[in-house]
Formats: sequence, structure tokens, C-alpha cells
Amino acid sequence: MIWRTKITELTKTKYPLIMAAFARLSSVEFAAAFSNSGGLGMITAMNYDLQEFKSKIIKMQTLSDKPFGINITVVPPGVSGIHDKISQEDYLKYVEIAIEQGINIFTTSAFQANFIGKRIQEAGCHWFHKCALIRHALSAEKAGAEAITIIGMEAAGFKNPYQHTTLMNLTFAKKLLKIPIIAAGGIGEARGFIGALAMGADAVCLGTAILSTEESPLNLLIKEQWLHTDILNEEYHKALYHFSLKGTRVPSPAIAFQKEIIPLKKFIENMMDEAELIVKSWKIDEQEFRFS
Ligand SMILES: Cc1cc2nc3c(=O)[nH]c(=O)nc-3n(C[C@H](O)[C@H](O)[C@H](O)COP(=O)(O)O)c2cc1C
Repeated sequence: MIWRTKITELTKTKYPLIMAAFARLSSVEFAAAFSNSGGLGMITAMNYDLQEFKSKIIKMQTLSDKPFGINITVVPPGVSGIHDKISQEDYLKYVEIAIEQGINIFTTSAFQANFIGKRIQEAGCHWFHKCALIRHALSAEKAGAEAITIIGMEAAGFKNPYQHTTLMNLTFAKKLLKIPIIAAGGIGEARGFIGALAMGADAVCLGTAILSTEESPLNLLIKEQWLHTDILNEEYHKALYHFSLKGTRVPSPAIAFQKEIIPLKKFIENMMDEAELIVKSWKIDEQEFRFS
């Protein structure tokens, strides 16, 4: 089945799947595996210094001839992180390197990134912004972002205390935004994927779900520990949902769909094959799944 959405048309990927950004978990081999499996692989720029960053892009280009993007995570003021001393000029240096290397898809995240988006667009490249609140999404759309990844409270990673669920975010975003939406938060199998498209998403962002695959740079012991996560446990629930403005310590509930460590390509193939079966079970027999 051919999966065609506004996002696959922009990214030129086989599937409407976007790899998440991962602080401190960098591996271009992992990103290349995602691109080679039909999604949009992502290099999390801020994991590297400038020189390393350039060499990682070059390496990525040798590992995959498929599309990939660059994520620039902007740390919100007052939040400590690995790169909390960075200035706007410093962020822009990463953008310049990527543009010079021929990258044309950028995602920004975590905080207002209009200054980055402006430069990306001046260079004729695509700018997607990722945020947790609809009002931030509206403001990024106004600033010129071409797509918004809206993160529901189910997501792992950086949390906002005023976040809604993935379902609410998507259905609201679809009503309020004019630009394409990418769903993030708790998605890790075919029904979540199709459900997100039905709620109005043009693609989904995969974070936790792919971190337990073979190519993921997550430590093997942690992968195994994650695979045994009991998402019904109270402590787990508190760690994921009772948060302030900071990161989670636990994987998202998307981990509950993973039973073993498998190659990323297999994970994606399984998900897309199952999605196709679900669509066909609804008696939709098109060869092309076009969503708009
Ligand atoms: C270990 C880890 C690190 C992350 N680091 C970042 C980051 O640096 N920047 C960012 O924008 N999002 C980051 N995220 C969030 C993901 O990019 C994505 O939004 C989230 O994982 C989607 O939800 P899911 O985990 O339910 O798939 C991180 C997530 C995880 C699990």
C-alpha cells in the first residue's frame, strides 16, 4: 500500500513516520536505519559540537541516500540541560552547517524557535516545529512553520505541565491549524498510527517505541528494563504524568507494545503491514492511502 499525506509529499519519504529527537542518545547509524526503513531519520544536532555535527551529517549521507532531517532542540530559559549556555547565534551556527551540507528539512523543539525558523525559510528549506501546547502551535504557525508536531502528555522526554493528551491535542490542532500536523506521544503500533491519521495527523513521530530496537544507542540493560515496564504500575504512572516543567525518567506507554528487541526495519515493517491489514479490514481496498 502507498501511504501518501501532506508530510510524505514534503519529506519525500515512503511512510508518514518521523523519527523523534533524542538528547544524549546519538547515533547516525540509528537515524540512517530509520531513513532506510522508509521514515524520516533525524539527527539531534545539539548532541554534538559544531565540528562533530558536520562530520555526522557527512557520515549520515554515506549511510543512507534517503531523506533525513536535523533537529535543533532549544532549551527553555531556566531549564538545565546539556547545552543550557548556548546563545541564539550558537543555534544558528548549527543551522548554517546543515544548510551548507544540503539539508532541507529541519525540526525545532522544546521552546520558541522563530529565529531559527526564519533562517531555515530564508534558505528555502522546510521548517517543522514541535511543541506541547496548542497555543504554541498556533504561534509557530503564525511565525511560518510548515508543520507542527504536537506532543501529547503520554510522551516521554520533556514535559509541559499544561499538556493535553495526544487525542485532544490532535483533534483540536486539526480544527485550529491550517498546516499539517505530526502526532507525538504514546504511539508505538499500528492502531495508534492509524488512529493518529484519523484524528487529523499527516504523520506520526516515533520516540520511545523505537528506542528498544536493535540499532538504538540506548544501553542494552536499559532496553531490557524498559521492555519490562508495567505501565499499569502507580509509580510508573506518577513518574510519567505527575510532572512539572522537566523531563520524564521513564519511557512513554508506547513501550507496552514492544515485546522484544528487533531490528528497526522489522519494527517499522510490522507496524506498516499491520496498519494495512487494519485498513483493509474496514473494506477500504485502495492501493493508495491518501490522507489530507
Ligand atoms: C530519551 C529521550 C530523549 C529525548 N530528547 C529530546 C530532545 O532532545 N529534544 C526533543 O525535542 N525531544 C526529545 N524527546 C522527545 C521525543 O523527541 C518525542 O517527542 C517523544 O519521545 C514522543 O513520544 P513517545 O516517546 O511516546 O514516542 C526525547 C525523548 C526521549 C524518550
